[in-house]
Amino acid sequence: MVSKTSLPPKAGAVRVRRDWLGKGRVRMAKTALISGITGQDGSFLAELLLDKGYEVYGIIRRSSSFNTDRIDHLYQDPHEKGTRLHLVYGDLNDSSSLNTVLRQIQPDEIYNLGAQSHVRVSFDIPEYTGEVTGLGTVRLLEAVREAGIRPKFYQASSSELYGKAVETPQTETTPFHPRSPYACAKAYAYYITLNYRESYGMFACNGILFNHESERRGETFVSRKITRAATRIKVGLQEKLYMGNLDAQRDWGYARDYVEAMWLMLNAEEPQDYVIATGVTHSVREFIERTFSYLDLDWQRYVEIDPRYFRPAEVDLLLGDASKARRELGWEPKVNFDQLVKLMVDHDLQLAKQETEATEMHHVPVAKARRESI
Ligand code: NAP
Ligand code: GDD
Repeated sequence: MVSKTSLPPKAGAVRVRRDWLGKGRVRMAKTALISGITGQDGSFLAELLLDKGYEVYGIIRRSSSFNTDRIDHLYQDPHEKGTRLHLVYGDLNDSSSLNTVLRQIQPDEIYNLGAQSHVRVSFDIPEYTGEVTGLGTVRLLEAVREAGIRPKFYQASSSELYGKAVETPQTETTPFHPRSPYACAKAYAYYITLNYRESYGMFACNGILFNHESERRGETFVSRKITRAATRIKVGLQEKLYMGNLDAQRDWGYARDYVEAMWLMLNAEEPQDYVIATGVTHSVREFIERTFSYLDLDWQRYVEIDPRYFRPAEVDLLLGDASKARRELGWEPKVNFDQLVKLMVDHDLQLAKQETEATEMHHVPVAKARRESI
């Protein structure tokens, strides 16, 4: 259902909608705009909204190589009738592109998921992270005001805000103590979203989401780094897995469950901020143990510590209390830790087997690891 389309010509609100839909047609379905649609959450959210009958627009960045892998399965030739997923070029660092997109699409709901989202990388590129992850949010909010529209607005806030957490479990009222440039940028984004709700009466919500993973998780985040490496080790493609701090604890859930919470927030009576979490925490070591034991491997033979993966400041323990979301939105996680590990390992084992076949068929050299950088 994807069409890579250029935007319709600039024009007033009503005319754009008619141009967009074709002569004589009235838009009945809700329209959603997603920044970060090519990311893990963006892809699951696009699926959810399409299932609900939405017209979905996603902002993508120009890239020299294809960056739409996670949403390619939703692709539909734009010449076919009924295409409901459209991709438009834009960037959270570029106000004019956001202004144009907002003026022309006039969405009913906006999900701001776009971000430089890697905590470790944010120490290497703090300024850029501040621009995209922090200021990107106010650019989008200002574009809403500039367009003179009143969409509902979801901000992808993070449990990283709690950082050096002052209490456990963390709730909507736990004070923030950010521990990375990423978390500092997210703190700005959190407060500016709150500020636009209070200043302009916008229906704007912060979802304070704890870590959520999936078979689509980026391969440099710890869960996927582990499942990808362990499965490659299992089929003989890789020998070692180099890790950082194994003692850190995270409240890991399944991304597909979490995007549902985003939609529920924007479809509640009142705009509010919610913690979304499973209420169970595990260490990185436990994630490794569970993954390797599921594959019948002794992890201690394969895992080594490399100090380069330690962070200048660590977030030691995250554990969320999602009681408010359960009570007011009726949200609860469906996938637990064991099921999450299993579904990721099952997926990555298939991938590793395909990699082996491709390697043998084309006689290409085997990469010793997927990506060693972070
Ligand atoms: P992700 O997989 O890293 O996806 C990030 C998305 O942001 C990608 O689509 C990326 O596009 C896009 N993006 C990056 N820079 C951009 C820019 N300058 N302009 C426009 N788009 C840009 O992240 P995720 O795991 O799906 O997370 C979604 C959001 O939730 C992020 O804001 C993240 O910080 C936040 N969050 C995530 C978690 C979690 O555990 N996953 C928890 C709490 C909060 P490219 O594909 O072109 O790079
Ligand atoms: N990435 C990575 N690589 N992390 C490692 C490694 C390693 O080799 N070894 C240990 N870790 C530890 C990190 O130090 C951290 O304590 C933990 O594993 C989780 O790291 P990530 O998976 O990179 O996620 P994160 O918790 O830093 O951030 C993610 O969750 C946040 C929500 O709390 C990201 O998705 C953020 O965007 C999100 O906001």
